[in-house]
Amino acid sequence: MIGSHPHLSSAVYVGNGRSQPAAILEVADGELSKLNADQVIDAVWPLIEEVNSLSPSHGQLHKSHLIIADSSKRFLRTAKCTLRRRETAQLFESEMREVFEAPARTPNYGIHIDVALSDELQSFVRMVYQKATGCESLKLDEDIFLVGADSLNIQDAISDLKAAVFSPQICIDTSWINQKAVYANPTTLTMTRFLGSLGRPQVPAAPEQLAERQQFLQKVYEQFRQQFPGGLRIGIGETSAPTTVLLTGSTGNLGSYLLDALLRRSDINTVICLNRSKNAAERQMMSAAEKGLCMDFNRDRIIFMHADLSQPQFGLEQHDYEYILSRTTVIIHNQWPVNFNLPLSSFEPQLQGVVNLVKFAGEGVCSPRVFFVSSIAAVNNWRRQIHLDSPTYDIPERHFTDLLLASGGYGQSKAIAADLLYYASSQCGLRGAIVRLGQVAGASKCGGGVWNTNEWFPSLISTSQTMGVLPEMLPLLNEIDWIPVDSAAQVFVELALDSYTPSSTADPRQRNMALFNVANPNTIPWGNLIPAVQDSAQDGLKTVSFPEWLAMLESSMPVQSEKAFVTLPALKLLDFFRGLQEGEHEGAKQTLLQTEVTVRSSLCLAKMGAITKKMMTAWLERWKA
Ligand SMILES: NC(=O)c1ccc[n+]([C@@H]2O[C@H](COP(=O)([O-])OP(=O)(O)OC[C@H]3O[C@@H](n4cnc5c(N)ncnc54)[C@H](OP(=O)(O)O)[C@@H]3O)[C@@H](O)[C@H]2O)c1
Repeated sequence: MIGSHPHLSSAVYVGNGRSQPAAILEVADGELSKLNADQVIDAVWPLIEEVNSLSPSHGQLHKSHLIIADSSKRFLRTAKCTLRRRETAQLFESEMREVFEAPARTPNYGIHIDVALSDELQSFVRMVYQKATGCESLKLDEDIFLVGADSLNIQDAISDLKAAVFSPQICIDTSWINQKAVYANPTTLTMTRFLGSLGRPQVPAAPEQLAERQQFLQKVYEQFRQQFPGGLRIGIGETSAPTTVLLTGSTGNLGSYLLDALLRRSDINTVICLNRSKNAAERQMMSAAEKGLCMDFNRDRIIFMHADLSQPQFGLEQHDYEYILSRTTVIIHNQWPVNFNLPLSSFEPQLQGVVNLVKFAGEGVCSPRVFFVSSIAAVNNWRRQIHLDSPTYDIPERHFTDLLLASGGYGQSKAIAADLLYYASSQCGLRGAIVRLGQVAGASKCGGGVWNTNEWFPSLISTSQTMGVLPEMLPLLNEIDWIPVDSAAQVFVELALDSYTPSSTADPRQRNMALFNVANPNTIPWGNLIPAVQDSAQDGLKTVSFPEWLAMLESSMPVQSEKAFVTLPALKLLDFFRGLQEGEHEGAKQTLLQTEVTVRSSLCLAKMGAITKKMMTAWLERWKA
């Protein structure tokens, strides 16, 4: 389509396997004598924007990724004038390398903003954030990640902000303007405030005081708790009703396996899948085929609905909402953004969703039970907080009201959600369980899907393969207690459908709302899995200490480029890996989830063996494929 522009005779997309494509543009005969390369790009840009609007963000062309072919270098064609794309791309190898390996682009605003001038700074930040989101009407308090910004867009935003801000009083250390800062300040208002603080002659972002943080988390919890309608009572419901499960986020990784585990059970009448995407049914079918899961999507047994849980009645049509109210007996709430960089404010729609689910359970004819997929991140600070009432360092199978145990916005959101459910349980009679999940790994069976390559472990492996060295120890994570994704789903379904019995504990908050820790009860040291990783590497992999591995990774920082993120994906998680080393340095130890109670409630967990070299080999092969 781009090649059809009157100034061009052809265009070739390149960049297979890269996080972002580029295009080589062949200018029509004679045009380059009238226009220079920039003018050609400006002329073609409106058409490219049109094409971009139809493409996913990772497939969109940026101006920096357009290559204008020199008039002396024409595209290669067959005798019948058909374009030889591959050979043409090879011909432009050096131009492509320049584009893909260029360090993060330098901005072209030529603007310098004194960070003390808050109005000007705010307008500039808004412009940069509008560009990152493509959202012209971006409001000052609007979260850029909620309107579509991704990690690629924010790289440009970081460069633009870094290049523009200055202070006449002090020399600003622009290294503070990084990915973490954007994730922590996702609105124009918060980023303006943050940049303003860099101009003041004191250390920016002083560490939060624990008491202040606790107060803040409590305030967010209260904001949502107060929304439970007064007098809300959730009864026992219609116990003889056929089992109808409402599953949220079925299109995700765990969600696909949860759906599979549910569909394989004959005692389930219907599964209603609530997803944010409109084409969930098609996506689900494709993902089931890829993962080798049940594809019997019989319309009588499985129903897909496009829903937004944060909206009243989940944004559904009245008749759909009434239908699910009349049928649902069990809710499995799995949908959640899995992003450790986002601040708590980005999870507000999810907390609203939890409130709406509780209201739904209250209105439901069958008073459905709610099973919530929580995370170890909700209690990650267990060791640091040192709970003196516990004789063990491992995390007990009980609910904690201390929100400071949670780490990061993601963990805090899961902890607040669990607190809201406990409140609804003690005050309104809600029944169900919080399932605190540890690290989920790839599938245990051969032929399963690919373990998401964006996660920390696949990123560590791929980066190690590029660097030729593998860490011999994993600080704070060395004891592998991962649970394969298919087993995690099976355990979850057993907990929700087979063994659910309200706990007999004296704590009224925990009587109707059980808590399960789900992690592999049989662990294996990382060192035992290293040979499987080494065997799969063509040129062998030497082991080095973790600090050495990290130092090698950090030394590639100055040449951070498009290509570096592809070949060294651990760079995107640098803060996470640094945190592991710092934690160990400060004397922290690995925290495992206790599983004794859960093992008694799930046959699958009781029979589960440790992660094996065979599984590791299978995951490595799938990453290569
Ligand atoms: N992976 C782990 O190791 C792990 C560990 C502990 C707990 N968990 C929990 O397990 C659950 C599933 O995680 P996963 O690993 O399967 O992640 P995933 O593959 O990213 O799936 C997440 C699901 O939530 C949906 N989702 C994401 N952001 C959303 C948003 N802003 N609004 C509405 N829906 C949204 C996704 O929809 P799309 O399909 O449309 O993207 C997808 O269906 C999550 O609750 C997660 O917190 C995971």
